[in-house]
Amino acid sequence: MARRPLVAGNWKMHKTGAEARAYAAELRALLGRGPLVPEVAVCPPFTALATAAEAFDGSAIAVLAQALHEAPQGAHTGEISAAMIAAAGATGALVGHSERRAAGETDEQVAARLRAALDAGLDVILCVGESLELREAGETRLWLARQLASALGVVAEGEERRLAIAYEPIWAIGTGRTATPQTAQEALAHVRAVAGAKLDGTALRILYGGSVTPDNAAELMAQPDADGALVGGASLEPASFRDIVRAA
Ligand code: PGA
Repeated sequence: MARRPLVAGNWKMHKTGAEARAYAAELRALLGRGPLVPEVAVCPPFTALATAAEAFDGSAIAVLAQALHEAPQGAHTGEISAAMIAAAGATGALVGHSERRAAGETDEQVAARLRAALDAGLDVILCVGESLELREAGETRLWLARQLASALGVVAEGEERRLAIAYEPIWAIGTGRTATPQTAQEALAHVRAVAGAKLDGTALRILYGGSVTPDNAAELMAQPDADGALVGGASLEPASFRDIVRAA
């Protein structure tokens, strides 16, 4: 089964609503009309979500949230529910980004948030990845298997169509130190094999993330198990993001 590539831009804590609107106009113009070969998504901060969803309306570009809380509502100051994300016009969310995990998000929360997103009808990009310490200790495969077992425990067979997994080595995020294509491919193949025990691995999209740029995107995405990219810094400028979409 051919997997359609997915390229998602994670804006992190960048861009106001007005900036999101300007970005959308520019990216839409750069990508032109008509269907895109890869699926394309952007992940604005919560405060720009509704504006971005409106500004990308009618385009082939999806808008996803960067995170969510697992509860449907309640006394969770500063948090956002899956229903709120959907009501803002977003169609999905990142779950378990390493910057969220570093800020205290546990494996249990990642699993609960993944389930809450799917239950609300949102698509999910689940993020996994190892630290430099784990890689140097030779623990990468075990670590990825553990993160996947915990999160995918809440996913049902058949849900791989609404789920993508982003493999993002933490040491490559925002560091300019990209994994080599071979290192990325080894980890991506491992992720597919582990996830394949639970889901249809041939249908599941697995993305590489970590210092993806217009210069390295084509080589990374040419790896047999790379079905696209999750891009941080290089997605903030529409022209550079467009070049990465083209590479896919
Ligand atoms: P980066 O971020 O492309 O800036 O390394 C990737 C990510 O955190 O998703």
